[in-house]
Amino acid sequence: MTYEAFLQLAETRHSCREFTGEAIEEAEIEKILAAARLTPSACNSQPWRIAVVTEPEKKEKVALALQDDGMNPYVAKAGAFLCLYPNGAAMKKRDNPKHPDDHFVKYDVGELCAYITLAAETLGVASLIVGWVNPQKVNEAVGYEGEYTCDLVIALGKSAEAKLPRKIRKPMDEIAFS
Ligand SMILES: Cc1cc2nc3c(=O)[nH]c(=O)nc-3n(C[C@H](O)[C@H](O)[C@H](O)COP(=O)(O)O)c2cc1C
Repeated sequence: MTYEAFLQLAETRHSCREFTGEAIEEAEIEKILAAARLTPSACNSQPWRIAVVTEPEKKEKVALALQDDGMNPYVAKAGAFLCLYPNGAAMKKRDNPKHPDDHFVKYDVGELCAYITLAAETLGVASLIVGWVNPQKVNEAVGYEGEYTCDLVIALGKSAEAKLPRKIRKPMDEIAFS
């Protein structure tokens, strides 16, 4: 892959806030998950479980779990959801005085999001990372009774947007320094 191709992918991947309501095919989900599985993580701890939600009734419930206080109305038309359950216990116990064993989990899950959303984009599947999550409602929707808390959900779907939203980013001199 060339740098130009990657840059174009990074520019095209964006937060989709207008989905068509179309379902996402099983094969597309499988491809996205295959890429997600390759995500790097601290000490290769892979601290995540992913609840895959495509079934319409469950989907509706997950969508509602992302809309507390009137937020994120657009997820109602997403075609699938990947509910991320960070697993703070995945890292081998190290008793490192510098930081707790789950110190890197959020970074790792951030990487996971990047792999998922970029892989989805290559398949023509739009995505939205949603942090406004009601974890209890997600658990009820997906039937999860484990000990981890879902605090991030990725909505996947076909885009109904007329055009790509403008990318708003800080200027380079506010990001990198030497
Ligand atoms: C951890 C995280 C949580 C986010 N939560 C939400 C959310 O709850 N609702 C929403 O509309 N966008 C959410 N976003 C999307 C960001 O607003 C978006 O990525 C940012 O504005 C940059 O725009 P772009 O993704 O289109 O490049 C979230 C993004 C991240 C990385």
